[in-house]
Amino acid sequence: MRVQLAPSILSADFAALGAAIAAVERGGADLIHVDVMDGHFVPNITIGPPVVKSLKRVAQRPLDVHLMIADPDRYIDAFAQAGAAMISVHVEVLPHLHRTIQAIKALGVKAGVVLNPSTPVVALEQIAADVDFVLVMSVNPGFGGQAFIPRSLQKIAAVRAVLDAAGNPAALIEIDGGIDAVTAPQAVAAGARILVAGNAIFGTSDAERATRELRALCNAALPAPAAPAR
Ligand code: DX5
Ligand code: ZN
Repeated sequence: MRVQLAPSILSADFAALGAAIAAVERGGADLIHVDVMDGHFVPNITIGPPVVKSLKRVAQRPLDVHLMIADPDRYIDAFAQAGAAMISVHVEVLPHLHRTIQAIKALGVKAGVVLNPSTPVVALEQIAADVDFVLVMSVNPGFGGQAFIPRSLQKIAAVRAVLDAAGNPAALIEIDGGIDAVTAPQAVAAGARILVAGNAIFGTSDAERATRELRALCNAALPAPAAPAR
């Protein structure tokens, strides 16, 4: 399985999102990562379902919608209708996480749970069998361009162990925050298979080229497949 690169449009020019998406798709983006922030769960405010609906019209790749909002249950349906292919929700805000995950799946959308940097991996244990993916935050959510928290690498490995122990080897680990040419290969080596990158792509003068280069680096970092048993 190849590594999937999900450019985050948070660092793109919000007046030209269509062009930003086209550029990273030309560069080989696998997913388009959309950061939804409400000014409550995180200090920043970004976009809602109407913008996602417009992005869906122009995007060729699936939309990966990361909900950094205080009450995701109220909006899951709207984001699914708007065209999200994947929706991730933070464990920190959901007392009925199992119900939320089932609700996302019932809408035909891939369901992911997100762990903030200070949230222990054990928070995942009882939901690990039910998720399509787990997003490990490697910065505190709210802003692009922050430095990768190195401890996140151990967390990726610990999340992988919890998913495997729960009998869910197909669930992928996504890493989000501070991913660049140095941290991307480290995250892949630790077990991440979906990499979000905002600043490393849209902070450059050529998003297409940055996408192509980062994606190649990620895939080069994949461990060699085990030799077949004789
Ligand atoms: C942070 C967001 C990220 C952000 C990552 O709250 O969830 O998706 O765009 O940006 P970089 O890659 O710049 O850290
Ligand atoms: Zn994100």
